[in-house]
Amino acid sequence: MTSETQAGMQITALMVVWILGTSLVFPQSDTAATEKVAEDPIPCSKVCTCQYDDFISELNMYCSSRNFTQVPTDMPPSTYSLWLDGNRFTSLPAAAFRDLTNLDFLNLQNGQLTTVDPQAFKGLGSLAHIHLERNRLRVLPGTVFQNTPNLASLSLHNNQLSRIEERLFAGLSQIWLLNLGWNSLTVLPETAFHDLQGLRELILAGNRLAYLQPQLFQNLGELKELDLTGNYLKVIKANVFLKLTKLQKLYLAQNQILTVVPRAFAGMKSLRWLDLTNNKVTSLHDDTFLGLHNLHVLRLSHNSITGIRPRTFRDLQYLEELRLSYNRIRTLGDRIFEDLGHLEVLELEHNQVQEAHVGAFTGLSHVAVINLSGSCFRTLPDQMFKGLPRLHSLHLDRGCLTKITTQAFSGLSGLRRLFLQHNNISVVEHQSFVDMVGLSGLDLSFNKLGALTTHTFSGLKNLEYLLLSNNECRQFLQNGTRQILPRLRYLDLRANALTSLVPDFSDNIEKLLLSGNRWKCDCSTLPLRNYALRKSQVIPRLVETHAEGEEPDTTITIYNNITCTSPPRLAGQDLRDVDGEHFQNC
Ligand SMILES: *[C@@H]1O[C@H](CO)[C@@H](O)[C@H](O)[C@H]1NC(C)=O
Ligand SMILES: *[C@@H]1O[C@H](CO)[C@@H](O)[C@H](O)[C@H]1NC(C)=O
Ligand SMILES: *[C@@H]1O[C@H](CO)[C@@H](O)[C@H](O)[C@H]1NC(C)=O
Ligand SMILES: *[C@@H]1O[C@H](CO)[C@@H](O)[C@H](O)[C@H]1NC(C)=O
Ligand SMILES: *[C@@H]1O[C@H](CO)[C@@H](O)[C@H](O)[C@H]1NC(C)=O
Repeated sequence: MTSETQAGMQITALMVVWILGTSLVFPQSDTAATEKVAEDPIPCSKVCTCQYDDFISELNMYCSSRNFTQVPTDMPPSTYSLWLDGNRFTSLPAAAFRDLTNLDFLNLQNGQLTTVDPQAFKGLGSLAHIHLERNRLRVLPGTVFQNTPNLASLSLHNNQLSRIEERLFAGLSQIWLLNLGWNSLTVLPETAFHDLQGLRELILAGNRLAYLQPQLFQNLGELKELDLTGNYLKVIKANVFLKLTKLQKLYLAQNQILTVVPRAFAGMKSLRWLDLTNNKVTSLHDDTFLGLHNLHVLRLSHNSITGIRPRTFRDLQYLEELRLSYNRIRTLGDRIFEDLGHLEVLELEHNQVQEAHVGAFTGLSHVAVINLSGSCFRTLPDQMFKGLPRLHSLHLDRGCLTKITTQAFSGLSGLRRLFLQHNNISVVEHQSFVDMVGLSGLDLSFNKLGALTTHTFSGLKNLEYLLLSNNECRQFLQNGTRQILPRLRYLDLRANALTSLVPDFSDNIEKLLLSGNRWKCDCSTLPLRNYALRKSQVIPRLVETHAEGEEPDTTITIYNNITCTSPPRLAGQDLRDVDGEHFQNC
């Protein structure tokens, strides 16, 4: 040890004495209440700090990040927990902790360990928790945990293990957490986990496993969570998970899975969460999800699924979330979701769905969100969304819609938010929104709307947010906005072809965005000018708004200019800045 470190130690010791002294002088202070303020000094290694918990008689020793190049040798036998993480020793010699028969918790993470002696943990008969993660281990001796039969948790993640000795976990029947994630494992011995009858959580994510042997998980009857995310699995075979009757969460995302055999998940009657995101699955068999009566969440986004057969989801009556976005589903057939009476979220975005049968969504009596963003419907079948009483958000943005017909949204009286931006909509038939008495937000921006009349929006008594920017509107309603849209708070009319606007808004209006139009600064815009000058809060010159395509909480400040295009004399001036004399003869 350098004299510098020794000096540091002395200062630390002085500080401890000072704190203890203070607490003796001021007995009411409780800063040192958990430390032993008794006749006997706390036993401790000279190079670490200790804390003694009187109440539960536990000695905790802290030796983290001290640049130790070897394990201290003067540790008191009564040590209960030992923090040795972040040090520099590269190996653990035999019997490195030999006297610590009381040790329960050993933290060796974040170090530079490359080798561990087969007898490194000799004498640690009480040890329950070992942290060996974030070291440089490539292999562990097959018998190294034979000295710690009472292990309850073992963390080995973020090392460089490329294989596991067959007997490495033999006899560890008390273990409930085993984390082997983010190593380089390519294959596991078939019997590796056979003794782990008490295991609750097994993490194998971030390895290179290409194959799971049929017997691998067969004794893990208590397992609740199995994480296989980010491996090289190609096939999910039958019976691999058969004995996992208590498993609740199975993560299989980010593999190369092309095939899921029929009944691949048979037996998992407790399964609540199944994640197959980011694989290469092309088709689902009628029996793929057979027997998963408890499944609540099913994630299948980012695969290559081309279609859904009618009976595929028939056992999933408790499913609440179904994600199928970023697949290749072109057609939504009749009654494909029929049995999903508890489904709340249905994600289908970016499939380029072109066709949907009228009964596609039949049975979804609890669905609240349907996301069809990135579909390619030209028109929507009449009454396609009928019988969805709980639907409150419908995403139909970024599609190929050119026309909204009168019957497309019939029955959607509970809908709160409708997203139709970034389509090619030029026609909205009269009364198309007439059933939507609950709608509060309607996004029609980035379309090709030319004329909007009072008929376009009739029925929208509760509409608060209306987004119409980047269309080709020459006119926004006539004199009657107040009656048609009495609750309107936010109206975005930027980048249209408006020449004037009748400012007939109810007192609910809070913001009006008007820039990027072709304002004709003659008598027809005088009411707008007066309104803008009177209500500078409603039409401010600068507006904070959300940036398109950005995170919802990023705002940008934009100009809300009402720039005149005509008469030529006033072109480029803001209507609000035009001299009052100009309107004298109006
Ligand atoms: C450990 O070594 C690093 C780098 O040499 C140094 O910055 C750090 O202060 C040392 N820590 C201790 C506790 O001595
Ligand atoms: C639906 O999809 C859009 C576009 O991909 C996305 O912005 C939105 O967050 C999605 N909605 C839900 C509820 O996932
Ligand atoms: C929208 O219409 C334009 C031409 O008006 C066309 O170039 C474009 O491909 C259309 N987009 C979609 C998604 O249909
Ligand atoms: C709008 O209608 C109201 C009452 O019906 C009327 O007083 C007002 O002059 C009209 N404004 C315009 C610009 O037509
Ligand atoms: C809007 O007005 C500001 C001055 O208030 C001016 O600097 C800006 O260039 C104008 N922007 C546009 C797009 O006309």
